[in-house]
Amino acid sequence: MVAGARKPEVVLRGAATVPVYNLAPPAFYAPMDPSLKYPALSDLKAACKARVPWFVWEYLDSATGSESVKPRNRAALEQVLFRPAILRGPITPDLTTRFLGQDYALPVGVAPVGMSGLIWPGAEAALAGMAQARRIPYTLSTVATQTPETIGPIAGDMGWFQLYPPKDPDIRKDILTRARNAGFRVLVLTVDLPGPSRRERQLRAQLAIPPRLTPSMLWQVAQRPRWALGTLMVGTPRLRLMEEYLKLDGNAPSTAHPGYLLRAAPDWDYLHAVRDLWDGPLVIKGVLDPADGPRLRDAGADALWVSNHGGRQFDGGPAALDALRDMRAAVGPDMPLVYDGGVESGLDVLRALACGADFTMLGRGWHYALGALGATGAGHLADILRDDLIANMVQLGATRAEHVAEQLAPRQDRRDEM
Ligand SMILES: Cc1cc2nc3c(=O)[nH]c(=O)nc-3n(C[C@H](O)[C@H](O)[C@H](O)COP(=O)(O)O)c2cc1C
Repeated sequence: MVAGARKPEVVLRGAATVPVYNLAPPAFYAPMDPSLKYPALSDLKAACKARVPWFVWEYLDSATGSESVKPRNRAALEQVLFRPAILRGPITPDLTTRFLGQDYALPVGVAPVGMSGLIWPGAEAALAGMAQARRIPYTLSTVATQTPETIGPIAGDMGWFQLYPPKDPDIRKDILTRARNAGFRVLVLTVDLPGPSRRERQLRAQLAIPPRLTPSMLWQVAQRPRWALGTLMVGTPRLRLMEEYLKLDGNAPSTAHPGYLLRAAPDWDYLHAVRDLWDGPLVIKGVLDPADGPRLRDAGADALWVSNHGGRQFDGGPAALDALRDMRAAVGPDMPLVYDGGVESGLDVLRALACGADFTMLGRGWHYALGALGATGAGHLADILRDDLIANMVQLGATRAEHVAEQLAPRQDRRDEM
């Protein structure tokens, strides 16, 4: 076994156990404090790149086209500036956030990431366990490598389930029933995948659907022993939920990939049908056009998730933060809005909240953390985000994150216009 690697288990309430591949320090020396070596998400990102096979890195980190959306998301966040407060005495920030009828410890959670378990062995269980322990939401993707029944009990009341729409109404109903029975309370319907996108970096890395392991990939795996060993222990990453339905579908071609069952292009009728089937909170993910906001609210959405899918679908859209401002203006102050895209720190969280979000999510970031440190990386990133929120709120003299909007400074890119 690789030095320092061991195989702890996440204990399911009253059921089986799921192996989670961790990287614990050997007992003979004092455990390293990760906040000294990895104080920022950028440190975790660099370490992740060095520890996962290249094709896995390309899957996680890539976007579509010339990847202009990723820097656009970042630039828009960095242009949000605040005026720090002075002479306010001691400040004790309160980070608790009530969202969609639930209390969370931070206004931050885990966005859905398909094939999470390919990126790091046991990723879904590790992230769900961290989310439950830290009291932040974890969103399980339809195309995760674990089923709702396995992950639901680990996430407990922190579990959100993300639906990529199955074509077959019976499969749709069955998946929603299973998610509900597994304890997921919030449903996220992703609507920004009207068709597959071209991700050129993934193509160059020879990532195909259905997946094929090429000699070059095997060589990459051989160079990353921790990842390889973890994958051997946890099992080959597969789309376990959709696979079950593929086995039952007599019409599916024998070579069909589970993604064959998913209709990537839902319409408004589809949304109405999902609304009728789900009696809990419904979040619509992947909304950018402010004109869609009021219509989605009228169609029964309880919250909108403003996102450009981290730039993985369309390279010609606006920064998600600009879309967020427009969406807030279109739906008014009361419609709950989630934001994702480029969030790397507590300061970024405050920026998104100041521009109209009620809650923020990270997708890639949690996986950079897992790649860097194994299962413990997720908790470390939660610490980074919490500590950075607190440090920046103290600078702003804000005890509640929703108050920081009052301290927005003029946007750097608009100064000349003022
Ligand atoms: C590898 C990867 C897989 C993803 N899979 C899904 C998915 O299955 N469902 C979904 O709604 N969004 C998916 N997303 C988008 C994320 O939920 C989220 O919108 C995006 O990662 C946010 O940007 P960030 O990575 O800059 O935080 C995926 C993103 C990545 C990076």
